[in-house]
Amino acid sequence: MRATAGNAAESVSPPINKTFTTMPLSQPVATVDAVELEIMTGLARTPKQISPKYFYDQQGSELFDAITELDEYYVPRVEKEIFSAHRDAICEAIGEGVTLVEPGAGSCEKVKWLLPDLEPSAYVPMDISGEHLQASASALKAEFDELTVMPQVCDHTQGIDLELPVEDAPPVFFYPGSSIGNFEPDVAVDFLRDMRAQMNGDGGLLIGVDAKKDTDVLHAAYNDAEGVTAQFNLNVLDNLNNLLGGNLDSDKFEHHALYNDEQGRIEMHLRCTEAHAARLAGHTIRFADGELVHTENSYKYHPEEFVELAEQAGFEQSQLWQDNRGWFSVLYFEPA
Ligand code: AVJ
Repeated sequence: MRATAGNAAESVSPPINKTFTTMPLSQPVATVDAVELEIMTGLARTPKQISPKYFYDQQGSELFDAITELDEYYVPRVEKEIFSAHRDAICEAIGEGVTLVEPGAGSCEKVKWLLPDLEPSAYVPMDISGEHLQASASALKAEFDELTVMPQVCDHTQGIDLELPVEDAPPVFFYPGSSIGNFEPDVAVDFLRDMRAQMNGDGGLLIGVDAKKDTDVLHAAYNDAEGVTAQFNLNVLDNLNNLLGGNLDSDKFEHHALYNDEQGRIEMHLRCTEAHAARLAGHTIRFADGELVHTENSYKYHPEEFVELAEQAGFEQSQLWQDNRGWFSVLYFEPA
């Protein structure tokens, strides 16, 4: 379900310039009813499913941070390696005087890989969590006080309605971390097209994409020995209880992650270990013994496969940077 432009639920905040201005906190980006509808619809399906965006409550975000520290979860380490090895070339490809736009910016940490060298005219971090975004944008502004920072509270999966804070500074989207892997490929193309539509012939897309690789490496990355990924997966149930009121019982589920070779994706599921019923948002939900609840897909793309997706969305590849094992790709695209 994609919202149309001008979604009343989206909000835009004023630019943070030399003097830091406060943006309105906690803008509702989706009503409780919309969240409830999405979750209950997913749980009414066969197999049951929960969107991975519900992983990221406070606890889930902390668990994800812990995942990024794991030996097995190579993604952030390898991506960072690529950015430090090729920083000059990356900055050169992007060029000067752009508006750097980061959907799902969260802590605004990765942009620092670029900021000292790339001198963008402005930075627009976008996130669904207004409070967190405000705090990260303030911290960034404190560190880079020359930079115009204009946080925009929105759910970028529902369409992009970009407000450019500086005239004649074309948007360059920054989408690291292989976040694109959470989308079904056709939805990924829609999202790429949304970004492309914000470019008036000028602009770009710098994106990090996890590659297909040895199944054992992938399996370990999503089945870490410490069980942090398991906690992260199970935590989604607590988050749903908090959001909608309920008694989903994470003790009655176990983490199940596998690489689906045919689909080219890691799948995460919660496997029910004992038939039971639970309550959520005033409804009763029944779980069978062994039943799987699908919580996440993480698609992996050979660079050329991803280029093909981007081409469908009106981009042309201008650069590709990889680590020497070819585990991760950083790609730069320009409007075709
Ligand atoms: C944040 C979507 C890129 O798919 O690797 C990590 C999320 N899930 N471990 C990924 C995740 C389990 C991550 N992304």
